[in-house]
Amino acid sequence: MAIAMAGALCSAQQKNNYVLDFKDTGVKIQPTMYGIFFEDINLGADGGLYAEMVKNRSFEFDLPLMGWTQPNTDRLSLNEKSGYAHVVEYKKAGNKNYIRVDVKDDKGYSLINEGYRGMGIKEGDAYNVSIMAANPDGKVNKINFQFVDEAGAVVASSSVSPSSKEWKKYTVQMTADKTVAKGKLKVSFAGTGSINIDIVSVFPQETWNNRPNGLRKDLVQKLYDLNPGFLRFPGGCIVEGRTLEQRYQWKKTVGSSDDRETLINKWNTEFSHRLTPDYFQSFGLGFFEYFQLAEDIGAEPLPILSCGIACQFNTAELVPLSDLDPYVQDALDLIEFANGAVTTKWGKLRSDMGHPKPFNLKLIGVGNEQWGPDYIDRYKIFEKAIHGKYPAIKIISGSGPSPDGEFFDYGWKQLKELKADIVDEHYYNSPEWFTKNAARYDNYDRKGPKVFAGEYAAQSVATVSPENKNNWNCALSEAAFMTGLERNADVVTMTSYAPLFAHADGWQWTPDLIWFNNLESYATPNYYVQKLYGTNAGTNLISITADGKPVTGQNGMFSSAVVDKANSEVIVKIVNTSGTAQKAGIKVKGGKLATSGKMIVLKNSDLAAENSFTQETVAPVENTIKTGKGSIDTEIPAYTFAIIKVKIS
Ligand code: AHR
Repeated sequence: MAIAMAGALCSAQQKNNYVLDFKDTGVKIQPTMYGIFFEDINLGADGGLYAEMVKNRSFEFDLPLMGWTQPNTDRLSLNEKSGYAHVVEYKKAGNKNYIRVDVKDDKGYSLINEGYRGMGIKEGDAYNVSIMAANPDGKVNKINFQFVDEAGAVVASSSVSPSSKEWKKYTVQMTADKTVAKGKLKVSFAGTGSINIDIVSVFPQETWNNRPNGLRKDLVQKLYDLNPGFLRFPGGCIVEGRTLEQRYQWKKTVGSSDDRETLINKWNTEFSHRLTPDYFQSFGLGFFEYFQLAEDIGAEPLPILSCGIACQFNTAELVPLSDLDPYVQDALDLIEFANGAVTTKWGKLRSDMGHPKPFNLKLIGVGNEQWGPDYIDRYKIFEKAIHGKYPAIKIISGSGPSPDGEFFDYGWKQLKELKADIVDEHYYNSPEWFTKNAARYDNYDRKGPKVFAGEYAAQSVATVSPENKNNWNCALSEAAFMTGLERNADVVTMTSYAPLFAHADGWQWTPDLIWFNNLESYATPNYYVQKLYGTNAGTNLISITADGKPVTGQNGMFSSAVVDKANSEVIVKIVNTSGTAQKAGIKVKGGKLATSGKMIVLKNSDLAAENSFTQETVAPVENTIKTGKGSIDTEIPAYTFAIIKVKIS
């Protein structure tokens, strides 16, 4: 339906004449141009990127045994049960509860963890199991671990002997002899007596860079493949929290992962149509790990911090200006954590966690998606403190949740007057909005703050509709819109699609860039659009025009062009949103091309096409094309995003 509108007016094989001008526009494509927005939504962190397989491993959810079952004991009285788990409070700061297990007889008492909508177990893969245990009476002599499949059959097993009366960590490895999509972990005990247990953990041995407490390898690989310029974390609205108390506090996410205090995830009950009552944040993936991830994938880290306003869609709680100091201090301390010498308090913690070298933080976000005078009042205080101490750090400020309207206009006006560095804009809109807005930035003030298109995604039905699809129509409209981001790279210096990840069985928000289950993941058409931009970003903007005007939808065609000076290459992006193949005759001005090049094509004749775990219907295909020294004559098929790359001779 959507983008076809332009195509309906086109005749078949229409010829489009373009001029590709090598003249230096003076605009550099910033290395941060195409980045990643990460938020722990849709089980993006716990249950997703963070490779821990045990849900509620330390019994810290609001219901301490959520995620755990004790089979065959439910309907029995205490006397009849062959075992029982009691929740005990330690009252330790980060880790409040543990479990005392009373094993009363040898009739097979066990605790079963259901994982995050099951556990993905792969045949032949090794898994690292660990448990904290204190065995005061020494009467329980073994703790057995088993992976069981959907029918309860054992597919891996191992055990530890809890030898100490005091708390001690026991580790063991087990290897699976079958692949299981929705397995479980069964913990059982040999002997009769009481034993205390906590932090029951299972990680695949193979994580990204094989780190303990690590990240899922396939998911990080997909991020790496985007060639991202930055990694924004940890959100999104979870930065703000439903209440101020539930805001994201980075200091509680660093140090030993065992001591990080679990917190309810804002997306737990956000949407009544997608309730996720078992969604909590273990912070196993915390700020140190985010910085490390950014470094691993070659992206600038971009942490976003609470500015003292809880989510304005929820409680909108406000910290009085007079009480804002601790919030501001968190920002200053974070910069010290990232960049400070190992002799500083927070720099030492970074070093103790294994990274003596600074993370070289250059960007920080103040607030996520706030609006109105309360935001501006708080932004001013943060700005003064951050730039007072760290003048080189660039601050990302926000213009609210919409790309226009009262809040947006107010925010921009104020931030311009305050000479803000970079302003974040968010747009979740229809595919039509995206194609119509390809010229959005053409008339932006060149002397004002830079723009961070920080959250955007075309919505096939409506914003937050659970029916939204990652279809080709949406992805194609984003590709068209992005020609406008690129053409305005002097103003727009950072961009990111949102949200990033979604668990196929545990999501709250759709569309999302990458979908996964517990075994595998797939790239959406939108992912490939991002990847093609990220891996073909170039270094310098040049112009491509039709009749002297930018190509912003004439005949349903959109285009932008860059030069990659390092590779001596010209890269032209052309998007044909029409339903007809169109000829493109590109005349080269001010330079000469090699006589052949590459054309990478992302296309599908069906705008409703989607990718899935089993089928990739929209994926890039690369071909060699012939070019003239002074021109490129080609045809762009219907509904196509094409990238033409030719060496400059
Ligand atoms: O990306 C999902 C949500 O959309 C983000 O958390 C928020 O910033 C925006 O409203």
